[in-house]
Amino acid sequence: MEKIVYNLKENRSKVSLPTNLGFGQVFTDHVFEIDYNEEKGWHNPSIKVLENLQMHPATMFIHYGQAVFDGLKAFKDEDGNVSIFRPERHLQRLNNSSRRLCIPEIDVEFVLSALKELIWIEKDWIPTSKGESLYIRPFIYGVDPFLGVKPASNYKLIILLSPVGAYYPEGFKPVKILVTNDYVRAVRKGIGECKTPANYAASLYAGEEAKKLGFTQVLWLDGVEQKYIEEVGTMNIFIRFKNEVATPKLSGSILPGVTRDSVIQLLKEWKMNITERVISIDEVVSEFKKGNVLEVFGTGTAAIVSMVGLLKYKEIEMKFDFTHSDNLAARLFDKITEIQYGKGEDKFNWLTHVSYKAVEV
Ligand code: COI
Repeated sequence: MEKIVYNLKENRSKVSLPTNLGFGQVFTDHVFEIDYNEEKGWHNPSIKVLENLQMHPATMFIHYGQAVFDGLKAFKDEDGNVSIFRPERHLQRLNNSSRRLCIPEIDVEFVLSALKELIWIEKDWIPTSKGESLYIRPFIYGVDPFLGVKPASNYKLIILLSPVGAYYPEGFKPVKILVTNDYVRAVRKGIGECKTPANYAASLYAGEEAKKLGFTQVLWLDGVEQKYIEEVGTMNIFIRFKNEVATPKLSGSILPGVTRDSVIQLLKEWKMNITERVISIDEVVSEFKKGNVLEVFGTGTAAIVSMVGLLKYKEIEMKFDFTHSDNLAARLFDKITEIQYGKGEDKFNWLTHVSYKAVEV
């Protein structure tokens, strides 16, 4: 692969971050960019100053949505050491999404080394308070100006960095989720398991309706029978029954969350009965009525582990109290963030350290 070209901002002043970061509103000074064409493959890698994109109005992805993205996070510990949480897994997932969208795959090793350099350059932007991190958004889109429907021939990958706090306006307090059976997000054998803009576009209308009713997000049911729970807008879902913690199995219409996988690994390590299986909404309701549903929580890179305080299906309101000491969601949140901030042992080798100085800046 070619050497990365650096075009860095001159006179970089000290970074001062707002006290309430929220999510996805602040961006660092630089991005990584690389182009693809059929002749050269991925080429022209650069780390450059963030600027607006210039594009032809016929740029293919705007019209037909041929784009993929992923979301991962970097953290800084108290000694200033920087690490990224499970970056290979995220970049492999980006490639899985690309394959389904006819987008050329990236060289994970090369992109990861470029990402480490970018993060090292931007390390002063990484916030350090609990729940805060540097969100990393790699995305790829078809750039050809053409109005016919076909896969593009040329692509661009950009990695954008954004210092973030909690994803939800509630912060890390329990969220309210509405189970919808008026709309569906995805069907099996479709693109539900890909991180592609279309899935998020499909979720907006129901999400806005839920918000008007005072809910944070929607829990989707399967696209065929609308019987089985799938995922929430930006997180996978876990139901803690009395003797089992269950999460919907990956059926092709659900995003294979990296935090979902991390939670499953932790629960196995803690010798809990964790299952990936089909879960009907009727089962959740009937077990709730019997007092057998102890907790509901969601997992995601942006959301981390979020407690669900209210789950509403039709007229049934399932309320969960997270103030007791046997709070699994809080225990998982604490464990994952402890590892991420370098405060606990990284038993599973989830962290990739960015503590070398590949480039003088
Ligand atoms: C993430 O958790 O990384 C997500 O992709 C959610 C995002 C769409 C805000």
